[in-house]
Amino acid sequence: MTEGKRSASTSEAAIWHDVECGAYAADFRVWDELADRCGDPVLELGAGTGRLAIHLARRGHRVIGLDHDPVLIAAQGERAAGLPVTPLLADARGFELPEPVALALAPMQLLQMLADRAERLACLDSIAAQLLPGGRLAAAMVEGMPEPEEGEPLLPDVREVDGWVYSSLPLEATVGPEHIVVHRLRQRVSPSGELTDTPDQVTICTLTADELEGEAAEVGLVPIERLYIDPTEDHVGSTVVVLGEEA
Ligand SMILES: C[S@@+](CC[C@H](N)C(=O)[O-])C[C@H]1O[C@@H](n2cnc3c(N)ncnc32)[C@H](O)[C@@H]1O
Repeated sequence: MTEGKRSASTSEAAIWHDVECGAYAADFRVWDELADRCGDPVLELGAGTGRLAIHLARRGHRVIGLDHDPVLIAAQGERAAGLPVTPLLADARGFELPEPVALALAPMQLLQMLADRAERLACLDSIAAQLLPGGRLAAAMVEGMPEPEEGEPLLPDVREVDGWVYSSLPLEATVGPEHIVVHRLRQRVSPSGELTDTPDQVTICTLTADELEGEAAEVGLVPIERLYIDPTEDHVGSTVVVLGEEA
């Protein structure tokens, strides 16, 4: 199948997104609890194809799913049809919402995907300006990488779409003073058996919960609490920093 004949939901970008993030559910408990407590609307920053936005909408929440990738936003729109999800094509480093929100979520280390402190401050400033009174920002962070375990090798995440097989194998994470780089091998097998290998990597900034809370204070957001997401076989655990306006 060629890219031109595909719907947004089955575009290459959406499929890789699904392969690598789609099955993750360990964080739902924390987001559900916060959304139930804070109310609507909920903003998800970096919502991609809608894994979390659609989950929250199915539980009755009204969600704005912001992402800067037009292909992922189109896929989110297709998948969320009939649900109270508003896909929003915008950059987390500076955006305007259709209405202020009761809760802004930054799942899967979105704030660490921004390049540096200046970009995080721009994002935090946009959020702070558009929170309802008593509103909250909750950001999932990876504060360090566990040592790789001896023994069982990691298994690839695999999906089959229209006879094509997509596999993404986590290889290693390199931890530097400023960045953590997660390497993966993406493999695609066509219906006729042709294999394509592409190395892929995701870079996130090293950042502690204390450092994020310090940066947030500069835009008037203060620490409220910290929550925790357990590690899974495929994903490291996260600290969720919850912030709100100064009283
Ligand atoms: C790891 S995925 C997580 C997707 C989704 N939040 C989830 O939990 O399944 C990160 C997403 O953040 C988006 N993203 C990265 N940088 C962004 C930015 N500056 N503005 C908006 N979206 C961004 C990417 O396009 C991608 O969809």
